[in-house]
Amino acid sequence: MRHLLSTGDLSRDEATLILDTAAELAQVGDRSVKKLPTLRGRTVVNLFYEDSTRTRTSFELAAKRLSADVINFSAKGSSVSKGESLKDTALTLQAMGADAVVIRHGASGAAHRLAHWVDGSVLNAGDGTHEHPTQALLDAYTMRDRLGRLDGLRVAVVGDILHSRVARSNVLLLTTLGAHVTLVAPPTLLPVSVHTWPCEVSYDLDDVLPKSDVVMMLRVQAERMRDSFFPSVREYSRNYGLDGERLGRMPSDAIVMHPGPMVRGMEISAEVADSPRCTVTEQVANGVSLRMAVLYLLLGGS
Ligand code: CP
Repeated sequence: MRHLLSTGDLSRDEATLILDTAAELAQVGDRSVKKLPTLRGRTVVNLFYEDSTRTRTSFELAAKRLSADVINFSAKGSSVSKGESLKDTALTLQAMGADAVVIRHGASGAAHRLAHWVDGSVLNAGDGTHEHPTQALLDAYTMRDRLGRLDGLRVAVVGDILHSRVARSNVLLLTTLGAHVTLVAPPTLLPVSVHTWPCEVSYDLDDVLPKSDVVMMLRVQAERMRDSFFPSVREYSRNYGLDGERLGRMPSDAIVMHPGPMVRGMEISAEVADSPRCTVTEQVANGVSLRMAVLYLLLGGS
């Protein structure tokens, strides 16, 4: 494996190896093992054309815990504003010795394009509405960690599927790992192609909740929305928001996930977001060891 562009490229064995490696690396960063020397002398570039809180800092921390040098590049304040293309920007960073480029870009397919231009590894940190593979991997890791298995798990992914790279990456990965995924959304927030995806589709959250082991809530991505698709906040929350009453109708050991950033009061109430059954902060913590595992396997491992 040279790049990580799509979870659809991962076999069951490869995906399991990443999760197992992340579990082994989970102790790195605590008091006893601050850092590993594995990627000493290697350079990781974080090339971010879209905003990020979790993914960029998580990749930076993961690379540093493996002793890599890290360059954080944000399109804002760079020569991109003078018209420099993605290709020329990437080749410039490669000329400085980048061994891996972690890219987030607003255009679906940007990571695949980049993989044709640079010699090093490309890690897709979110490309448009297409994919976000490390988010899906850290989600799968968190499910397995909390519930002890992925095989046969019933996972509901709820919300703005149309604009969600997280949903697509999760459907592809979770089905590879033996879970059953149901997408729940209003018809206007589902892609036309959804019936070709390897999952079920429902418009009725209240029907799906009692049958789910995991409910993954997604943010409505207003910034990618055309006016006609935008539901009113009140109507959306009433039909697709997860509040304490709905949480009570889920199986008692079922968990609530969210990739972040959350919009409290819209897709998730504060009561649910702060509940011990909500894994949002665990997902963030697991994301560091998961990204360490991916960097290790692409750059330093066998
Ligand atoms: N989940 C996620 O990708 O969050 P950021 O946009 O903050 O990176």
